[in-house]
Amino acid sequence: MEKEVYILGIESSCDETSAALSVGSRLLSNIIAGQKVHEAYGGVVPELASRAHQANIIPVVQQALQAAGVAKEKISAVAFTRGPGLIGSLMVGVSFAKSFAAALHLPLIEVNHMEAHVLANFASNDLGSAPPFPFLCLTVSGGHTQIVLVHSALKMEVIGETLDDAAGEAFDKISKILNLPYPGGPILDKLAAQGNAMRFTFPVSQMKELNYSFSGLKTSVLYFIKKETAANPAFIEENLADLCASVQHTIVQTLLLKLKKAAAQTNITHIAIAGGVSANSGLRKSLQELAIQKSLTVYIPPFSLCTDNAGMICIAGYYKYLAGSFTGLDASPLPRMAI
Ligand code: KG4
Ligand code: ZN
Repeated sequence: MEKEVYILGIESSCDETSAALSVGSRLLSNIIAGQKVHEAYGGVVPELASRAHQANIIPVVQQALQAAGVAKEKISAVAFTRGPGLIGSLMVGVSFAKSFAAALHLPLIEVNHMEAHVLANFASNDLGSAPPFPFLCLTVSGGHTQIVLVHSALKMEVIGETLDDAAGEAFDKISKILNLPYPGGPILDKLAAQGNAMRFTFPVSQMKELNYSFSGLKTSVLYFIKKETAANPAFIEENLADLCASVQHTIVQTLLLKLKKAAAQTNITHIAIAGGVSANSGLRKSLQELAIQKSLTVYIPPFSLCTDNAGMICIAGYYKYLAGSFTGLDASPLPRMAI
């Protein structure tokens, strides 16, 4: 019988401290400690994020081991996020992973956070429901917006990306303009469900090739709101649901425009989504409609694996483990690590 592979995954690239344990591609635990401290500032404060990671990392790992019911001695390797992300945040996870691996004489595996988001689609008991290679993945998070051509678990190519703000950033910054608390994406999503998406029209950016831009949309909403509130100070409150629905519709249309183009150009009919914004109900619904219209097959990971989590780091680590791709104890964070 083949030896079972147990991976301890560590994620600390932004404001979520997370540890998970997997056996093969099955997750046994996936513990995430969020950081409320940033809410008061309307965005992630890097210095505060590092401090919170430092406080959370040991309890989170202990909980992940306990919830999985696996003794430390069973672990085959430690996988950690090397980048991209905030340097101070990454440092906590990288240092922890190295120390843990050195103490238990375990191999270390570095993982690219963006590749891990894609591979969250493979965290399953039933790999029959995972996308077949090659497939396209729309990875949409607070820091990134990419169309990735996934050749294999270990070979990915970014064929389109945002040239300025990420889609999640657009959701969050526009939410702030609408006086919603941080992070605004999920709140805007909920409000949008009660609104009329056709009420207000905002521009869908038309960048070259398969690229995106979201900073123009943010500016356009800002000027529109300034103009309307000058005439009616209650404009936002009176039209909140319609504003949210119209903004969400614009972001989703922008995302799908290039995704459709990528599918046509590559002749690939299997499409996955990943990243925090893939939790968006408008995006999920429109993607399912597009799938029917264009005979595409769409793969959407469970909600808990869409936002930052160490489970996806375990899955990416597992594939690297099988390929014998290990990292030395001299590894340091790579804040701008590319796919
Ligand atoms: O992947 P993620 O957890 O962290 C990064 O790596 O950035 O993504 C977080 C982003 C935030 O911008 C958040 O507002 C957005 O995902 N988000 C959503 C929804 N849930 C999370 N945006 C729109 N609708 C949602 N339901
Ligand atoms: Zn992420």
